[in-house]
Amino acid sequence: MPELHEELKKISGLIDELIRKDDFPESICPRFLGKAVTDYPYTGGKRIRPAILMWCCSMLGGNPEAAKYAAAAMEIYHNWTLVHDDIIDNDNLRRGQPSTHKSVADFSVQHLSVPKRISKKFGIDYAILAGDIQQGWAVNMLLKSAEHGVSGELAIALSRRLQEYVNRMLISGQGLDMSYPFRDMDSFVAEEIENMLYMKTAVLLSFCAEAGGAIALNCTDFNDNRIAVLNRFATFVGVAFQLRDDWLGIFGDASKTGKTLFSDLISSKPTVLLVKTIDSLSPDERKEFRSYIGLRKYTPELKEKVRSFIRNSGAEKFVLDKIAKLTKDAKDLLGTFQNCRERELLIDLVDWLLARDR
Ligand code: IPE
Ligand code: IPE
Ligand code: MG
Ligand code: MG
Repeated sequence: MPELHEELKKISGLIDELIRKDDFPESICPRFLGKAVTDYPYTGGKRIRPAILMWCCSMLGGNPEAAKYAAAAMEIYHNWTLVHDDIIDNDNLRRGQPSTHKSVADFSVQHLSVPKRISKKFGIDYAILAGDIQQGWAVNMLLKSAEHGVSGELAIALSRRLQEYVNRMLISGQGLDMSYPFRDMDSFVAEEIENMLYMKTAVLLSFCAEAGGAIALNCTDFNDNRIAVLNRFATFVGVAFQLRDDWLGIFGDASKTGKTLFSDLISSKPTVLLVKTIDSLSPDERKEFRSYIGLRKYTPELKEKVRSFIRNSGAEKFVLDKIAKLTKDAKDLLGTFQNCRERELLIDLVDWLLARDR
């Protein structure tokens, strides 16, 4: 899919330019807090949220120039959730680099004479602030759409939906995710986990699709039929995307994902993979498998053991089949729109995302 990657690069360039020229972070002090605010947005990841927003807008005949501020806003918004998520998940690695709380902690020891024993808390405290500012920055960027081709009424409607639906839903999803390790893993069914994945991950992707459609149609009614189809399309993609993320956390290659492997196992997170594995094991096997959950370190041998349990139990196949089904459903929904280049790009994006290794 050479064209997809070329087009993603273009989106990335466009978003980079908007984010880097925006003066919102300039007056933040102290300076290292300003750097923590711009760190993830400047580095960037796959930039799939802006791509979904811009291509959904173009697919419905909209002007991509009008959509680009909303697209940049969604990338910044995504990044605040990552900054806070890395604190919550105690992850020191993001996109192959130290996560925000880790880099502020390291900086504080090297340049601010903060004692090492309190540097971790120092890093976390500033990363909380960085994420808070990024959230404000994202909303500010979204409202700027009103100066660049989006009606004031629609810019307000999008901001309201972001706050009253997406924000609450996404943070509630994170809240559920955080509470699950304290429940017995036997008590979960896959659907319950999938609902949480919808909340923490898919809701933002659906909003990107909706926003693209709403800008194209200049429509503030999120129940509009075409906008609702876009919402469903990105919901399927979002759930499958997070299922793939969880799969990569066990079967992936850390040098490609740029994240710590087995992070979900270390923190006893009940992913669909784990719940399904436990569900299909005999009592003795289950006992053994459960003894591998929640350890501080996993040797290569132990990792292989966990992987073979997941594989042999049929749980891996269950998750991969589920991803394939959601991918098909998502593409079928795209089939209801008129054929155009952006629709092809969205189809290629879905195929690539759900088979990705990074
Ligand atoms: C990571 O999202 C967080 C999840 C919802 C799984 P991405 O995989 O889109 O992160 P980047 O922006 O490309 O690094
Ligand atoms: C991330 O979920 C969801 C949000 C940031 C809202 P995860 O914690 O599973 O994602 P990664 O693996 O850290 O990217
Ligand atoms: Mg995480
Ligand atoms: Mg998390």
